[in-house]
Amino acid sequence: MFETLSKAPGDKILALMGEYAADPRPTKIDLGVGVYKDEQGVTPIMSSVKKAEQKILAQGKTKTYLGIAGNKGYGAAVLDLALADSIDRSRVRIAQAPGGTGSLWVLMQLVNRAKPGATVWVSDPTWPNHNPIAENSGLVVKTYPYFDTATRGVKFDQMLAALDTMGPGDVVLLHGCCHNPTGANLTNAQWDQVAASLARTGALPFIDLAYLGFGDGLLEDAYGTRKVLSVVPEALIAFSGSKNFGLYRERVGAAIIVARDAAQADVAQSQLLNIIRGAYSQPPDHGAEIIRTILEDAELRAEWEAELNMMRARMIRLREKLSAAIRTKSNSADFDFIADHRGMFSLLGLPNSVVEHLKATNGVYMIGDSRINVAGIPEDRVDDLADAFLSAMK
Ligand SMILES: Cc1ncc(COP(=O)(O)O)c(C=O)c1O
Repeated sequence: MFETLSKAPGDKILALMGEYAADPRPTKIDLGVGVYKDEQGVTPIMSSVKKAEQKILAQGKTKTYLGIAGNKGYGAAVLDLALADSIDRSRVRIAQAPGGTGSLWVLMQLVNRAKPGATVWVSDPTWPNHNPIAENSGLVVKTYPYFDTATRGVKFDQMLAALDTMGPGDVVLLHGCCHNPTGANLTNAQWDQVAASLARTGALPFIDLAYLGFGDGLLEDAYGTRKVLSVVPEALIAFSGSKNFGLYRERVGAAIIVARDAAQADVAQSQLLNIIRGAYSQPPDHGAEIIRTILEDAELRAEWEAELNMMRARMIRLREKLSAAIRTKSNSADFDFIADHRGMFSLLGLPNSVVEHLKATNGVYMIGDSRINVAGIPEDRVDDLADAFLSAMK
């Protein structure tokens, strides 16, 4: 049977990781793969996570099935964390899912059940996985203007003009915070306008919330999501615990439905659970139990928040150091945007020839579209990196 298949294209990020691993130069720098790294270049297990795991190990009594919606305490804790009291919970439903990706997947499937072949509008550019997840769910993907390659900020007027033309059948995918790949984000005032547009047009907001706490803070990063929810009748949210809890390989996320009322929420949730049952039946528990344990325990939660604050402060410091070094060396403000961006990524807007040159000549690895992971910047070699950027661009 397999003779009918042709080889699928490989994943570009995984290929780049392979190239980096095979590069023998000790001075190589990995700004490619999208995971947080500490000063040692390690993606650490957070101390709050280790403590939660010890507690779980000591107190766990069963490994029986959880149920299709997953860990209930986790679901309630995630809703508190992400939505707080922005919306009446009677019309909100949640199902734990494997990572942000699994959450996006089951929610896209739900959209396709509600409106087969609906159009999902994604930002130009967006996280490359959004397209296949939507298309493999039967949906049509179109883009709305987002990144301004001249200013490396958001083309907000054009974005809003595009959103204003949408209608009730359209789905608008928004990055809740820390836009991937650009690092350029909406201000609170812009979120207010996006929320007003969505309320006016009736387009369905679908918020990808993969980096809560990585931008300006847990509360600050939730602003856009909460604002939108406070004014629209229906919404979808895909939450990920991969980055902010450092639980990448545990595959923990959540699919959240906001419906017009409790009755419609129950119907939509029944479809969502039916989709999950027919796919992987039930989500894995370990990551969810870790998050539940942390969020329900005041001490562990305080420790987690302190660790998250530390990671965020490190990323902001690295942004500031790199843009300051480039400014000093080049006498130009062209790269100040790196300090203005938030989250783990910045899209530098360099041509692919420069990206390739940096890799070949300096051993500096980044994604082909010139997205860098700021957590990969070695703090003691910021000057070397600034020199490499400036000489590659000559
Ligand atoms: C924008 C965005 N959404 C969702 C995800 C999904 O993350 P995960 O499935 O690892 O939780 C990522 C991860 O890179 C992302 O960048």
